[in-house]
Amino acid sequence: GLCSVRPKEPLRFWNTWCVGGCAEAVISPRSESALGCIRKMTSEEGVHAFVLGEGSNVLIPDEGLEGLVVLLRDDTSPPIVEFSSDSRVEVQVSAALPLRKLLNWAVRRGLSGLEFAVGIPGTVGGAVAGNAGAKGRSIGDLVTFVRTIEEDGNVRVWMGNELSFSYRKSGLSSGRSWITSVGLNLYPSSDGDIRQRLKHFASFRKGQPKNAKTAGCVFKNPPGGSAGMMLDSAGCKGLRVGGAMVSLQHANFIENLGDATAGNIIQLVDICRDRVRDKFGVNLELEVRV
Ligand code: EPU
Repeated sequence: GLCSVRPKEPLRFWNTWCVGGCAEAVISPRSESALGCIRKMTSEEGVHAFVLGEGSNVLIPDEGLEGLVVLLRDDTSPPIVEFSSDSRVEVQVSAALPLRKLLNWAVRRGLSGLEFAVGIPGTVGGAVAGNAGAKGRSIGDLVTFVRTIEEDGNVRVWMGNELSFSYRKSGLSSGRSWITSVGLNLYPSSDGDIRQRLKHFASFRKGQPKNAKTAGCVFKNPPGGSAGMMLDSAGCKGLRVGGAMVSLQHANFIENLGDATAGNIIQLVDICRDRVRDKFGVNLELEVRV
């Protein structure tokens, strides 16, 4: 009852690019202690294990993944208020909760801080590991603590200031620690102010593809530059390999037109990177996990 294991699970159902092969097995733990047991067992047995949330920032290879894929996704567990004053509310949130659910929850309660996350897919755990953000705001700014399961299966609690959050990166980006829950500061605010901030941040997403199979931005912005602008001016929009195409709306998005493989996407990524290197002498770094 603590979790269910499914063998030979096609992972294309579990990532937003909708590509990739099968996992040897998939498991959906329903508690932190179940996750601890899984971690301890896979470590001791030398079984490869990989945590997947919403799969919105990851490229799953066509060969699939060896070992166990641990699906950390749970739409139902609500945040728990741990501290509340007129000026600050601290909540503890399951890492498996989709970020948009947390944002909805906060907005309904008049809590500000997460408005930048409007339109960002993924789970809270994935967002914290990769320090998801928009327009200079990111989730790391709100984090008070993070609970993880370490390689030995034990819980570790990290304070926010131990996690060295930076642009799309944190001390937990490597995936070695499995995030189970997160403490976040939110700030009581008026509905009007919150609505206005939501509108402000939503406006930056207008030029991004909607209802397309993508993983968000493929490359990080280089220091002081814009990957999207460079890719666009290097003529990448509309480039195609098999079923993968560089978005016509935003050159830093790659769309799966329907039958793309992970291999198609990797080839297109290489072509784009080469074009930007040739034109600008800049080596773009991937933002998606491969
Ligand atoms: N631009 C072009 N052509 C394009 C795309 C962009 O000329 O095809 C220009 C835009 O006109 C703008 C500049 O490039 O002048 C920057 O583009 P944009 O405003 O779209 O922002 P971005 O830097 O490309 C970043 C994040 C996005 C986030 C937006 C909005 C990165 C790599 N990307 O995009 O994050 O949604 O700002 O805040 O940091 C993601 O992380 O997956 C992601 C989509």
